[in-house]
Amino acid sequence: MVCLGNICRSPIAEGILASKCIHLPIVVDSAGTSAHHIGEGPDHRSVHIATVNGIDIGDQRARKLMKSDLEDFDLIFAMDSANYNNIVKLASREEDKNKIHLILNESMPGENKAVPDPYYGGDQGFENVYSLLNDACEEIKNKLEKEFDV
Ligand code: 4NP
Repeated sequence: MVCLGNICRSPIAEGILASKCIHLPIVVDSAGTSAHHIGEGPDHRSVHIATVNGIDIGDQRARKLMKSDLEDFDLIFAMDSANYNNIVKLASREEDKNKIHLILNESMPGENKAVPDPYYGGDQGFENVYSLLNDACEEIKNKLEKEFDV
């Protein structure tokens, strides 16, 4: 799960997908394309919206996406097209480029919609982000269950 700072959107995405997929043999992680918030915990508004939905993301720490992530992970979900383009630039192999997807295309195929950056807005932005990511992660979980024949 990849956003810009790894403190607002992608920590929520990581928390939601991990909580939906505890029965599956997968590793869920998140990172940012910028280095601005390395080592920080998630934004308190992200922690709050996750908590009210029964998910604890408080132990996550921000990190920057590395070239090796594109080799280590099978699926990379970008929160918006700016992040998508920056992730693609890190990928040297065609097979790694093919792992990168805009996350909302999972729930709204072909629409190329962004998970809006909620950093400068109010709490409602975080509620919206949560709802969008919950729908997308439900679809991801469904696909993974089919893939693992669960
Ligand atoms: P995120 O949100 O990419 O969802 O973690 C942001 C966090 C920090 C900043 C921008 C977006 N910032 O400009 O510091």
